[in-house]
Amino acid sequence: MVVILLGPPGVGKGTQAVRLADDAGWAHVSTGDLLRAARRDGTELGKRAQTFMDAGELVPDGLILDLVREYLSVLTSGSGILFDGFPRTVAQAEGLAGVLDAVGRRVDRVVVFEAPDETLIKRLSGRRSCPDCGAVFNVHFTPPEVEGVCDRCGAALIHRKDDDPDTVVRRLEVYKEQTAPLIEWYGATEAEQVVIEADRDVDLIYSDFRSAVGLVAT
Ligand code: AP5
Repeated sequence: MVVILLGPPGVGKGTQAVRLADDAGWAHVSTGDLLRAARRDGTELGKRAQTFMDAGELVPDGLILDLVREYLSVLTSGSGILFDGFPRTVAQAEGLAGVLDAVGRRVDRVVVFEAPDETLIKRLSGRRSCPDCGAVFNVHFTPPEVEGVCDRCGAALIHRKDDDPDTVVRRLEVYKEQTAPLIEWYGATEAEQVVIEADRDVDLIYSDFRSAVGLVAT
């Protein structure tokens, strides 16, 4: 099962994908996480991506497709794959289709997460991320046990630079302009599409998400 998680910034794609990948042993490919790791490691790709990410703009398609191709072994492993935050443009979707076709797979399901802008803005303003283990918290909804400290690994939590209010506004615009058209694009493919109302409790969303990808709901 190859699944695309589609939805605006802050809608909860990462939260849901990490949980399902842990529970079901599926691969989780988040281009945002891969780019942030490249930045931390100081790679050439990370340096090139930095200005785009900090401005809330998309990183160029060519760089993203190169990054995803490095994960070809995941694509051939036969396990379930969750693509989180990728593809984000029609060019990326076409690139992914080509890569999957070459290994005899295709996108089976597109899960579209929806929530109003006010919810997304509140979630992103309160998000705190662990730069070491990737755990995500929220000062409004799911605070860490000790303020500013990761429950999982003890590292100091950060507020992502692209979660500042002005950049969030731009990221929402970019989603509407460049990524939302993928809903229609995938509608014309064989992939089954499922919409999830994501302005709800995390556990309720998770139950629907499991059903959406063919697993038993919790
Ligand atoms: P990326 O890291 O992919 O960011 P994004 O898509 O903007 O998504 P987010 O991580 O902000 O949100 P999410 O939906 O995963 O929400 P989360 O679960 O964390 O991309 C960052 C940048 O990298 C892009 O702007 C771009 O520059 C670049 N990039 C990445 N991929 C690219 C690509 N393919 N092409 C080009 N450029 C690319 O949840 C958010 C918060 O809400 C958390 O605090 C969480 O705890 C909380 N929360 C989640 N669910 C709930 C709930 N149900 N109730 C209450 N709180 C909740």
